[in-house]
Formats: sequence, C-alpha cells, structure tokens
Amino acid sequence: MKNIVILISGRGSNMQAIVEAARAEKWPARIAAIISNRADAGGLDYAAAAGIPTAIVVSKNYSSRAEFDAALQAEIDRFAPDLVVLAGFMRILTAPFVDHYAGRLMNIHPSLLPSFPGLATHQQALSFGVKVHGATVHFVTADLDHGPIVAQAAVPVLPDDSEDTLAGRVLEQEHIIYPRAVRWFVEGRLTIEDGRVHLAADAR
Ligand code: GAR
Repeated sequence: MKNIVILISGRGSNMQAIVEAARAEKWPARIAAIISNRADAGGLDYAAAAGIPTAIVVSKNYSSRAEFDAALQAEIDRFAPDLVVLAGFMRILTAPFVDHYAGRLMNIHPSLLPSFPGLATHQQALSFGVKVHGATVHFVTADLDHGPIVAQAAVPVLPDDSEDTLAGRVLEQEHIIYPRAVRWFVEGRLTIEDGRVHLAADAR
C-alpha cells in the first residue's frame, strides 16, 4: 500500500479526479492526506466529506519561503508519503523541499511544457496563436515547471476560444492524465533516467 499526500490551493478538481480513480480502480494506495496552504480552498470540503484527513499550513503565517516549506514538509512527512502530488498547489517551492522529495513529487501544469511555464498559460496560448495546447504531468525539480515529463495531453485551440473555454477543454484532459500518471507511479512503473521518464509495460 503506497501513501499519497495531495497538496492543493483551491478548487481541487484534479485532487478529486485522483481520489475517485484510486477508489474506483482499487489502487494499492491510500490517499493519506489532503494539505492546503489556504484555509478557504474549496477542495478541503470534498476531502473532508470523502473521509480523508486534511491539514492547512497557511503560507501567510511564515515570514520566508524556507520557513513555510520546512513547516509544510513536517506536516507532509507525518503521513509518510511515497508520493506527494501537487494538484493546483500555487506555490514556488524551495530547492531543499524539492530535493527532499526527489523522484516522488509530481505536478500538473496547464500547458504543453516546455511551452508556457508559469502563470496565465491559457492566455499565453491564445496570445501566441498556437493551434494546439494542453497539459503536462511532470516530476518536480528545482527548475520551475521543467521536470521530467510523465504524461501530456493535447487539445485544439479553436478560433473563437476564450481563456475559459480553452481552460475547460484542457481541464477535462487533466482529469484523465493526472490519475493515470499517479496510478503508473503507484504501480511502480515509472523510472527517471537522464531527465526522461520511462514507463514499464503493464505486468497484467
Ligand atoms: C489546474 O488547471 C492545474 O493544472 C493548475 O491549476 C489548476 C487547478 O485546478 N496548476 C497550475 O497552474 C500549477 N502551476 P484544480 O484545483 O481544480 O485541480
């Protein structure tokens, strides 16, 4: 049984997709805790209703990134995680934190990395006039939005898209690829070599 800790900052729809997939597909994994850096994160209500332990580590209460990350790390490690999943966790993490979870820290980013790291990815896609956009699941390294890529999904950018319609199309794909990528990790099928992720064949 692997322990998964999921970090959120808001709505938590990716967290919900992972929790639901883990239960429906009977993964050999336990969602050990949902931790938020904001007390008002909507996803906390879902987690509590689903019977999952929740914790809040409020970033505003710490005077430096290092202090916040140390407190967050202590809270996460209470749950002995095999994998820490960032699901809309809107914080830049310090190198010591990222190093502590090397190879067991995953993120989803709403663009086809390495295009459009950072914020406002859908706006950037529209401004550049790209015809294809999407989402990326990757292992986290100290280099923001640049870690080894586990999975990607692409969607078309349509001529009359707004930021919202494009974000909605991408989010639908996020809810497919993120649970799938986490499941691969839980099944022990992912290895990282020279900055690239290899997926072992399904043993079944
Ligand atoms: C998702 O679109 C996720 O890709 C994005 O925030 C949203 C969270 O939605 N993450 C980032 O931008 C990370 N830099 P959710 O709370 O409903 O999962």
